[in-house]
Amino acid sequence: MVLKTENLARHYDVSLGFMKPRATLKALNGVSLSLQRGKTLAVVGESGCGKSTLARQITMIEPPSSGSLWLDGDQVDTSSVAQVKALRHKVQMVFQNPYGSLNPRRKIGDQLEEPLIINTDMKSPQRKERVRDMMQRVGLRPEHYYRYPHMFSGGQRQRIAIARAMMLNPSIVVADEPTSALDVSIQAQVLNLFLDLQEELRTSYVFISHNLSVVEHVADDVMVMYLGRVAESGPKQTLYEKPLHPYTQALLSATPSIYPEKRAVKIKIEGELPSPLNPPAGCAFHRRCPHAVARCSTEEPVLRELSGRQVACHLAEQFA
Ligand SMILES: Nc1ncnc2c1ncn2[C@@H]1O[C@H](COP(=O)(O)OP(=O)(O)OP(=O)(O)O)[C@@H](O)[C@H]1O
Ligand code: SF4
Ligand SMILES: [Mg+2]
Repeated sequence: MVLKTENLARHYDVSLGFMKPRATLKALNGVSLSLQRGKTLAVVGESGCGKSTLARQITMIEPPSSGSLWLDGDQVDTSSVAQVKALRHKVQMVFQNPYGSLNPRRKIGDQLEEPLIINTDMKSPQRKERVRDMMQRVGLRPEHYYRYPHMFSGGQRQRIAIARAMMLNPSIVVADEPTSALDVSIQAQVLNLFLDLQEELRTSYVFISHNLSVVEHVADDVMVMYLGRVAESGPKQTLYEKPLHPYTQALLSATPSIYPEKRAVKIKIEGELPSPLNPPAGCAFHRRCPHAVARCSTEEPVLRELSGRQVACHLAEQFA
């Protein structure tokens, strides 16, 4: 197992305003997952459900409030600055906006070389060779080495960001909405690049998106999140063919490109995502769920195994 988490949680202490008491915002509320080498786990859910917070825990950008993390089979002491520093190269991140993560004043070749200078004892000619090799793999031309970020299109900049993430041969790449800022015509090219690199380098991906049709192309497993928790998780085909959680059902029904014959009825999700500062009692989805029964507003459903996936819904059997 390349990546495993158990009950990973991240709570933020937030201010509600002048003279008001502080409150705890449970951005991530006990997420367990596992990922094998060369596979892709897609993490899907509405804005604010905790996807990027999960990404920051996995990439060790910030420590979890509680829970455990394993990388390449070893448990990480997330409170140890030295250990986190030593392991960080194993998990690289690709962000939605590649421009924000590139230095506008440095040539692309130099920016790609940087992680090798910091983290390896490779000599200059070796490093430059590796940069050129990676540039070629991601579809950049040799002359691009000497250019600056503003001289590239959005799609090319994302290729550069992907190349940089790959420079140290990470076990895991966490991609947080990596195609959301790109033109639709470019998105498929970048998704295909992720797939090609995975095939060549056997990297594992955690691929974050709010869109089930984007991850359809790349995912092996899909994890649907709602308000900091897992609603449903399992192999992509299993979830897409027969989603058992009403929230997954609703997300899929809004994605007619996936199995259109089964998605004739559009299920509308009523209302807004509740605030994680004040989550509803019982099932967090109950105020928006078309199937909710009395029990749903008082008793929180636990995540359990059913029909080849994990699902957190009292009525899941009814949909199986
Ligand atoms: N540093 C922080 N301090 C306080 N609250 C935070 C912090 N980071 C995130 N949150 C809150 O945690 C919740 C989850 O945020 P997160 O960014 O993980 O969601 P997301 O699923 O990535 O959303 P999006 O799709 O919009 O990127 C939100 O309510 C957000 O406001
Ligand atoms: S537990 Fe109840 S409210 Fe929650 S998803 Fe299932 S049916 Fe809907
Ligand atoms: Mg996010």
